[in-house]
Amino acid sequence: MCGIVGYTGTDTAKDILLAGLKRLEYRGYDSAGVALERTDPAGETHLDVIRRVGKVAGLESELDHVDDESTCGIGHTRWATHGRPSVANAHPHACCGGNIAVVHNGIIENFAELRDELTARGHVFGSETDTEVLAHLVEEAYAQTHELVAAVRKACERVVGAYGLAAVCADEPGVIAVARKDSPIVIGRGEHGSYVASDIIALIDATRDVVVLEDGQFARLAPEGITYTDAQGAPIEPEITHIDWDIDMAEKGGYPDFMLKEICEQPRVVRDTLVGRLAPSGELDIDELGLTFEELDLIDRVYVIACGTSYHAGLVAKNLIEGWARIPCEVEAASEFRYRNPIITPSTLVVAVSQSGETADTLAAIRDARIKGAKVFGITNVVGSPVARESDGVIYTKANKEIAVASTKSFIGQIVSLTLLAMLLGQVKGKLTTGQVRMLFRELGDTAAQIQYILDSQREAVHEAALACKDAPSALFVGRGMGAAISYEGALKLKEVSYLHAEAYAAGEMKHGPIALIDPGFPVIAVTTKSPVYDKVVSNLKECEARGAKIIALATEGDEDIKQIADHVIYIPAVRDAFSAITASVPLQLLARDVAVMRGCDVDQPRNLAKSVTVE
Ligand code: F6R
Repeated sequence: MCGIVGYTGTDTAKDILLAGLKRLEYRGYDSAGVALERTDPAGETHLDVIRRVGKVAGLESELDHVDDESTCGIGHTRWATHGRPSVANAHPHACCGGNIAVVHNGIIENFAELRDELTARGHVFGSETDTEVLAHLVEEAYAQTHELVAAVRKACERVVGAYGLAAVCADEPGVIAVARKDSPIVIGRGEHGSYVASDIIALIDATRDVVVLEDGQFARLAPEGITYTDAQGAPIEPEITHIDWDIDMAEKGGYPDFMLKEICEQPRVVRDTLVGRLAPSGELDIDELGLTFEELDLIDRVYVIACGTSYHAGLVAKNLIEGWARIPCEVEAASEFRYRNPIITPSTLVVAVSQSGETADTLAAIRDARIKGAKVFGITNVVGSPVARESDGVIYTKANKEIAVASTKSFIGQIVSLTLLAMLLGQVKGKLTTGQVRMLFRELGDTAAQIQYILDSQREAVHEAALACKDAPSALFVGRGMGAAISYEGALKLKEVSYLHAEAYAAGEMKHGPIALIDPGFPVIAVTTKSPVYDKVVSNLKECEARGAKIIALATEGDEDIKQIADHVIYIPAVRDAFSAITASVPLQLLARDVAVMRGCDVDQPRNLAKSVTVE
């Protein structure tokens, strides 16, 4: 979610760190900071930690006043997870003695326990972040090892969770210690020193030969070179990867477009959105909830308000909230909700879903709902956005910055967040037991691997399906239940990126009108995953098949029968129906993107659209 960068060598560190942070800013920009080594006239080395709330440009103005002498430092641009955006919560975090500073990406799941333990031993914490425990753990370990990498290794042994981290220590000038588990780290050696970052784009100007650090590996960067060790401290020879991408491709992580890159990031989005959400007691832990369980228990009606793709996430949520919590739930376009006179009481919960957190209609609907006395809960991808600020509570979708105009990974983050909310409501209302919540939570987490499986195995099938519809004048998306909810999203995605006209219908509605559109060769994209309404969808499809439709079916793996009616089948691993929207959305996103590429469209910036719609 954040970006980290580090440099040690013979050049001015602050310039290199700033350049790297600017490249990484897309990963988060609610605060930024650096720790720079400085040698005083007596020859003693100190660490200067300089942090600012807001974008890297703010930090840059601050660093204008800092001299150019430092040749070693680390930097960070943050996307808040634990703790609101503030100077105190910005990285780098220093230990009590101020001689060790750490930047970190990832989430330390056992940070509360570690913080209590460290506090009991006399450490004083200055932030609300999970990262700060690392600085104090390294401080304690350094008192024993007197060697930074060894201290970092010892600290990491205590940590449960994900980390990509870099640490500096005033007592070991010129050295940066680096560690990684489940959070990317790349390291490179340039003409003027050694570099580390969380993303290749921050290194690419200095070197094209990089080491992608693996989980459990550590590195020691010094001006004269880099050494690598394993979890036991034994030296290792890592593999060097040569990068031949240009900067444009590097920003896209080697993918041809941001949309595909973001689709492929979705397994991570699922994992990140879930990290730390299930307490050991089996209770769901949503720390930005802003509403007490007593307040939640009083909720007797839910409105999900949103626009576009976010609205479609709401359609998925309706099934879950009504199914698990047994609370009536309506989903409404924010632009409609605000001009009606909806029935709102103090026991109404309005859930506002917005990737950008600044959609004008959604914001206006939030304000209206609050005036009418509703509790408002926001689901957004942007920390500190107006939707987050104006809601009583918020869940952040942890999708990271979404660059392609068409939402993909933020949609998956929204569904996962809404699923958590539905589970929480079910738990609070006593409709779901702790055991059921645990089981659902585990299965929800499994969707990360299932999405990965689809990405790895179904690209060719999607490509074939895209070829089959790319020249059609129009296409229909159909499904029932969850399948209907995501059919709407499939049609929107196809329309907006490929300009191919598409409509979505609940499959049972076809015979009431839309079936008149079908003539030989007309593409019908059907969500036919195994669900309680599977047979019904298949019957509806047979009606389309009888009229010559070209059928593209999204089916559950192992369903061979579907081949009798479908011209193309894209397979999805078997999942609980409640989670099928998460997995089945992925091929629909890929299909839209492939059709758009085949039709020569600008996939990332479709005509007439904007990423944030701040006008009514
Ligand atoms: C479609 C898309 C839009 C947005 C809509 C709401 O791919 O991205 O339909 O979903 O404009 O935007 P947010 O979620 O930022 O409120």
